[in-house]
Amino acid sequence: MSTFDKKILVTGGAGFIGSHLLRLLVNKYPNYQLVNLDKLTYAGNLANLKDIENKENYVFVKGDIRETQVLDDLFAQYQFDGVIHLAAESHVDRSIAHPMEFITTNIIGTVNLLNASRSAWKDNMEGKIFYHVSTDEVYGSLGKEGLFLETTPYDPRSPYSASKASSDHLVRAYNHTYKLPIKISNCSNNYGSYQFPEKLLPLFIHNIKNNKALPVYGDGTNVRDWLWVVDHARAIDVIFHEGKIGETYNIGGWNEWRNIDLIHKMCEIMDKKLERPEGTSAGLITFVKDRAGHDARYAIDATKLKDDLGWEPSLQFEEGLEKTIDWYLSNNEWLDNVTSGDYQKYYQEQYVKRETV
Ligand code: NAD
Ligand code: DAU
Repeated sequence: MSTFDKKILVTGGAGFIGSHLLRLLVNKYPNYQLVNLDKLTYAGNLANLKDIENKENYVFVKGDIRETQVLDDLFAQYQFDGVIHLAAESHVDRSIAHPMEFITTNIIGTVNLLNASRSAWKDNMEGKIFYHVSTDEVYGSLGKEGLFLETTPYDPRSPYSASKASSDHLVRAYNHTYKLPIKISNCSNNYGSYQFPEKLLPLFIHNIKNNKALPVYGDGTNVRDWLWVVDHARAIDVIFHEGKIGETYNIGGWNEWRNIDLIHKMCEIMDKKLERPEGTSAGLITFVKDRAGHDARYAIDATKLKDDLGWEPSLQFEEGLEKTIDWYLSNNEWLDNVTSGDYQKYYQEQYVKRETV
């Protein structure tokens, strides 16, 4: 007999957000068993979980959500009460260069998980939860005004966002058709420690540190809404426990920045931290050929989450940004490890031959 009150499968737990979520859940709920299923792609890194890897309520399983047998075996072994699904290919630029991995993992992998959950829970869905972690990018791109609401029609515009939108639709379809107890959240851009340095913040911190060019796509006026990753993990915890079955919740930071303004802010902070003359880091800014189909603006209205479940971001952005920069500056070993090997090849393909404008 298991001694745990609940057994929860977390997919993609060795990635950026998944590792923060697991850290929160493993420490907060010693009475839950948390099983982390992760394929360990280039983005998955067990070093992100070092501080919890020996906890008694944590188990790591290396496996691919595209393989149905892996899922069936895991469900049979652990009799999960809940699934929190984060495993995905997550980088827009990679989806533009190589869309197929996004289709197989984000869409087919999600359907495999839905099927495994449905089959395991078919005789009793009471108390079970399939929680799908999604993105604000499914809503498309905003003009200067307006915010994404839970009711905003879907309009995905990159292979990444289209694959996430497709998975959201399938999750809702399984709820409607088979009564699978689902929840979905759509979150804005996360920032914080343990993010792979292909995404804007860690990439630019790494480049500033190494005096490398800062490749700003287009004119840098695209807008993103930034949320501290720990606040995203807190929101997932609240929604998993208190959100209504069948509902969608938007998660955001109420914190919009034009890329170029954010980059200047980072440069200012980095000059101080690295004791370089003011303006040194900004001198690395290089405008390069725009991302294909680059979405102009994302901005989330997270009122529903605040009004219904009482969640709000806990950290002011300026403080979060400093904390994040400090983390990347003091975790050289982590950064060196993830930027060796295949990273160099990716960097070469993505940036070295890219035209400047
Ligand atoms: P990430 O790329 O850092 O991590 C993804 C994880 O999934 C990695 O550990 C990887 O090894 C694993 N994975 C990939 N393919 C797999 C497969 N086939 N089988 C098993 N594991 C696999 O991503 P992230 O930024 O942590 O994002 C996590 C989730 O949150 C994704 O679903 C993403 O769409 C969503 N999301 C991300 C953000 C953001 O700003 N990063 C914002 C909103 C939503
Ligand atoms: O909105 C949520 C999404 O945020 C998540 O679903 C995605 O998984 C996550 O990757 C992120 O997508 P973005 O495309 O917004 O993030 P990224 O860090 O790649 O880029 C942020 C902005 O910075 C975007 O407007 C593109 C720009 N950019 C990015 C890179 C990597 C640059 O100008 N130069 C760069 O080198």
